[in-house]
Amino acid sequence: MSVTIKDLQAYKREGNRFAMLTAYDFTTARIVDEAGIPVILVGDSLANTMLGYDTTLPVTMEEMLHHTRAVRRGVQNALLVGDMPFMSYHASVEDAIRNAGRFLKDGGANAIKLEGGGRIVDITQRLTAMGIPVMAHLGLTPQFVNQFGGFKVQGKSDEAAERIQHDALALQEAGAFALVLEGIPAPLGKLVTQRLDIPTIGIGAGPDTDAQVLVIQDMLGLSGEKVPKFVKRFADLRGAMTGAVQQFIAEVEGGEFPTAEHSYGVSAPKPEAEPVGDGAIYGGGS
Ligand code: KIV
Repeated sequence: MSVTIKDLQAYKREGNRFAMLTAYDFTTARIVDEAGIPVILVGDSLANTMLGYDTTLPVTMEEMLHHTRAVRRGVQNALLVGDMPFMSYHASVEDAIRNAGRFLKDGGANAIKLEGGGRIVDITQRLTAMGIPVMAHLGLTPQFVNQFGGFKVQGKSDEAAERIQHDALALQEAGAFALVLEGIPAPLGKLVTQRLDIPTIGIGAGPDTDAQVLVIQDMLGLSGEKVPKFVKRFADLRGAMTGAVQQFIAEVEGGEFPTAEHSYGVSAPKPEAEPVGDGAIYGGGS
């Protein structure tokens, strides 16, 4: 049985912390799912990690759905959340409903995520009433980068901290099943977590939120040199990939690859029937 939004709420009630990761493609989603992650987010951070933009603003609904469908094909167990891109829920409630519905109908997501407080509260209420589970997102919401004047920690003043708490309670009241808290002081992350019944999922919100999320490129060490303070690198896949690519180049140039081990013979009775191999191949399964 796959993870559901009710499971996440039970984790909070029972005091069990949990992890969430982003994924944007089939291969990564399958690895992350098989490793046991309970929640996978197809974040609009794919604008940065997959498409090379500086901000998340340019990514479109079509691009988000394309990646969500790929991730869906790799996920058996995790709850799959699709991130609503900038301007897909802002112009009207009708737009929000239509685009959120596409994440579930066309993308195969189980839930969607929305950034912001204020008028997002009304949209959250409408979507949840229609059976579309909403993960809310407050704090350093990257779609507000121009409003914030850069990627800056939010909720530092008393007034800003009060507004985040007020919005968090309003989003919970509107039916959000979980709340991402990004880039806020750790004491505020703790306070919001204590005040809510729904789980909080922190990223740069300190150690006391109910769950933690990271962008997979960051935690695997695939990003560039500069990563935010809240990132911990759990592996150095950039180093491993660079080494593997350099070794491949050297072995091809030096004539060491391929050897007989990786070549087909000519003496088999039916060479056309010789299988290409058991592993994953282009155009084939794995
Ligand atoms: O887009 C994203 O990856 C996110 C997470 C960092 C929460 O919103």
